[in-house]
Amino acid sequence: MRAYAVPRSLRFAYLVLLAAISFSVWGQEPQLEVSDGVSSKQWSRSALLAESVPIQIDKDSAYKRSMTYRAVAFAKLMPMLMTKTAANTSVQFVALDGFVANIAAADLVGKGQPYLAIETDQQPWPAIDPNNPAKTASAGPFYLVWLNPEAGKISNEQWPYQVVKIRVELPLQQRFQQIIPSPKLSKNYQQAMQGMQIYIKNCAVCHSMNGGGDAAIGPDLNQPFSPTEYFHQAFLRKLIRNPAAVRNWKQALMPGFDHQSISESDLDALLVYFKHMAALRRMK
Ligand code: HEC
Repeated sequence: MRAYAVPRSLRFAYLVLLAAISFSVWGQEPQLEVSDGVSSKQWSRSALLAESVPIQIDKDSAYKRSMTYRAVAFAKLMPMLMTKTAANTSVQFVALDGFVANIAAADLVGKGQPYLAIETDQQPWPAIDPNNPAKTASAGPFYLVWLNPEAGKISNEQWPYQVVKIRVELPLQQRFQQIIPSPKLSKNYQQAMQGMQIYIKNCAVCHSMNGGGDAAIGPDLNQPFSPTEYFHQAFLRKLIRNPAAVRNWKQALMPGFDHQSISESDLDALLVYFKHMAALRRMK
């Protein structure tokens, strides 16, 4: 790794800043803001722990192994959502690092059985990836886990960690219409619409499309150009399956998507969506 020469005065300012941040983070209990669309509630960690039960997750998405947690059933956080689910409601999970997952309410009330896991001072969780300098923090303070992800068809990107805010929102495509395919381009329109859903579930948690989206961890996928315009198709498929197979460095943040998370035909639809959006942009 490259070593930076930091001026002494800056180093001091950095230490003061770090102390201030750690004080505000650890000086008080972690809080979680939950808005169900009608009202908003601030949960302290101890209030959440009072409602929690012990659970075991066999294939944990962040830690890639079996984990046990103290956790609150998601239904306890948003009882309203559970009783009357509007088909097109979405729940937004905002994480400390800028990751924003928009999860369909139908998934949250479905067979996946979501729980919010709570990290405690007595039992701190390990680093997400001790080998990646960008991922040495734990998944805490709050982390959405699923008891039965296979039954609910829950993807790896639907396990937001370091969650600080949960709120009911309109689905992404209703808030950002620039991510929607247009029937004006009728070729493969249906497949492009299907691709958009795959994009929202797996990619929009980190990327934007035509400037539309909640997250900006990775680059926009159509502005100024679409990866379908500057990547050889075979390499783009390879990169989505396993980014490190195309280019590799320690701080890489993008996960790979294996056949279980995105099937071959879903990947086809995803690429049709990207090409469609690039063609729409060129028409303008
Ligand atoms: C956890 C965040 C995250 C998720 C999820 C994610 N990406 Fe990425 N992506 C990134 C980041 C960050 C980069 C920049 C390279 C890096 O750090 O790995 C990137 C880079 C890329 C690139 C290369 C762009 C370029 O010009 O170099 C493409 C293409 C891409 N992502 C497509 C996708 C697709 C398609 C999906 C969904 C199937 C997806 N990404 C999901 C974070 C993510």
